[in-house]
Amino acid sequence: SFEQSLRPQYLKQYIGQDKVKANLQVFIEAAKMREETLDHVLLYGPPGLGKTTLAVIIANEMGVNVRTTSGPAIERPGDLAAILSALEPGDVLFIDEIHRLPRTVEEVLYPSMEDFCLDIVIGKGPGARAVRIDLPPFTLVGATTRAGSLSAPLRDRFGVLSRLEYYTEEQLKQIVVRTAEIMNVEMDIQAAAEIARRSRGTPRIANRLLRRVRDFAQVRGDGTITIELADYALELMQVDRLGLDHIDHKLLKGIIEKFRGGPVGLETIAATIGEEAHTIEDVYEPYLLQIGFLQRTPRGRLVTEHVYHHFQLEVPAE
Ligand code: ADE
Repeated sequence: SFEQSLRPQYLKQYIGQDKVKANLQVFIEAAKMREETLDHVLLYGPPGLGKTTLAVIIANEMGVNVRTTSGPAIERPGDLAAILSALEPGDVLFIDEIHRLPRTVEEVLYPSMEDFCLDIVIGKGPGARAVRIDLPPFTLVGATTRAGSLSAPLRDRFGVLSRLEYYTEEQLKQIVVRTAEIMNVEMDIQAAAEIARRSRGTPRIANRLLRRVRDFAQVRGDGTITIELADYALELMQVDRLGLDHIDHKLLKGIIEKFRGGPVGLETIAATIGEEAHTIEDVYEPYLLQIGFLQRTPRGRLVTEHVYHHFQLEVPAE
């Protein structure tokens, strides 16, 4: 798909995550030299930082196929059995949101990862029987936004643990320039820098903003993305100078206006602003914590002085 063709296919095309990349390069090269299957890899970190892209790259670098699925999509052990027994030797199985695998499936996964065999029970009641199926060796690439919510036995079965970090503005600028080239759109370098600055350290957001700004350039301009056009489009899309959107605003202003800046419990603030607690925790909070706008305390979430300054509000007295 076009979406897929925007993504880098090999490590040397992949911008950022330098430590993860350097380590993977070694592990991949070593496995290839020994003609072995790559050890299982767990990728963790906030959404949109390139976990799926890396899974595909790992398969490409190893010269194998990748089969993609997700934790919630594998409902029963039989679903997992079907996927695993269809793999070819050395293939990559990518399981996104692996922390959401049902417990019963997780238990079947352990021996598959360790010994490449599957013990399942066929049938029910007195006629039920246990069968052992030999599997081709494979590499499991798991992705999760929360390494902490993986069970210890599952986490322990990954040989490679890689944490993805937010990208720098410079790296995001390079990504936006690369994507614009692939999309064949003219863009000033200042516009690329502005989109990068407002992308919350996240390539998925950068590329999404780029596509929307391109729409504005096409309809409201002459097709070229200038800094003025980028500013205008981002303003209309309610993406502020720091890349915070209206949900970030609702969250931060909600804590200020309804809870005097906090501390307030996650569930309470979620109910107040009408967003899922999980979405706040996985998608919105990590970046706000990273830029020092939010703090987690034992008594709940607390906004910092930066937030008052950002909204040009008076910092309340102690
Ligand atoms: N597109 C999205 N993420 C990317 C990355 N990390 N490097 C290059 N292009 C990308």
